[in-house]
Amino acid sequence: MLRVDREAPGDMVAIEARGLVKRFGDIEAVAGVDFDVREGEVFGFLGPNGAGKTTTINMLTGLARPDAGTIRFLGREYTSDVKKAQHLMGVVPDESNLWPELSGFDNLCFCGALYGMRGHERAARARELLDTFGLADAAHRKFAGYSRGMKRKLTIAAGLIHRPQILFLDEPTTGIDVASARQIRQLLSGLNKAGTTVFLTTHYIEEAERLCDRIAFIVGGKLAQVDTLAHLIRDVQGQRVIELALSRALEGLGPQVLMEFMGPLREAFPGVEFESAGGAALRAHTRETLALAPVVRFFEDRGVDVTEAKAIRPSLEDVFVRVTGIAAEQMRREKERGPKGGGS
Ligand SMILES: Nc1ncnc2c1ncn2[C@@H]1O[C@H](COP(=O)(O)OP(=O)(O)O)[C@@H](O)[C@H]1O
Ligand SMILES: [Mg+2]
Repeated sequence: MLRVDREAPGDMVAIEARGLVKRFGDIEAVAGVDFDVREGEVFGFLGPNGAGKTTTINMLTGLARPDAGTIRFLGREYTSDVKKAQHLMGVVPDESNLWPELSGFDNLCFCGALYGMRGHERAARARELLDTFGLADAAHRKFAGYSRGMKRKLTIAAGLIHRPQILFLDEPTTGIDVASARQIRQLLSGLNKAGTTVFLTTHYIEEAERLCDRIAFIVGGKLAQVDTLAHLIRDVQGQRVIELALSRALEGLGPQVLMEFMGPLREAFPGVEFESAGGAALRAHTRETLALAPVVRFFEDRGVDVTEAKAIRPSLEDVFVRVTGIAAEQMRREKERGPKGGGS
């Protein structure tokens, strides 16, 4: 497989954001972010609910006007009129912007018309996209009757109708079935291999890990870190992560109870970081070898058995937790509650 060297000097910058700020009243939703997306890469904004991902993508795609900062695409400044860059970009919002009463085919043709495509050209392109996304059988059904996964796929197809060089997607796999999500990830990888630059937001760490060449962690409207996936993971590779499964014979043992052990654990094992791993499990992070016997004894003294200890390969999740201080599990929980009650 041929892979472009992302680090090569002279690589064209597809998206350049400098000092972007967006305020809503007293809230600074995006508090000055800077980043470059190189041509041909998949760049991911990864962060929890309310971090400023949608606001950032809205500024880049002309749906929100920045209060400060500049935006350039492929070397040209578009800050005050991002709409002028429409021919360069495809936009896939978190909630579909398509027409419920139109069929899938008509929706795509209508979008093509908005980009000035001719009749036969847009019909051919619509058919091609319906095929690619596995929606050919539903081409003449109303969009309103599509499943969530089908709706998302058609929304992506609509964003691609004019063969944009840069594709923006806001949480492309949130709230849809697993099979559609996998299909979308494969399609995005394929598009990127064919040369499309992809900017996406996600709160799924595994998704960022699977899809993105480079990742920006965004928290509270600020970028906590921006780097290649390889570099981010290398940072934690010297770490040992041990997951401990715990059980107590009489009473239940959940994260709440475990929290009470955190303070004493840190005192007893300085240099080891402990965190909840969901349910009755704990993770220990250390750069040294971890002697298990004292840990087992620590829990025995408190009436708890260590039933299993296994070494975990450090992942992007560990980097994320360390850099942002946000547990991945907490991020998922928050998202499920959602600001808009799920959407469609
Ligand atoms: N139109 C708006 N009016 C007021 N506040 C907003 C608006 N849009 C977003 N916000 C606030 O800005 C912050 C960032 O939101 P958003 O960009 O939607 O985050 P994300 O997409 O990462 O979940 C949140 O605190 C949110 O409540
Ligand atoms: Mg959002």
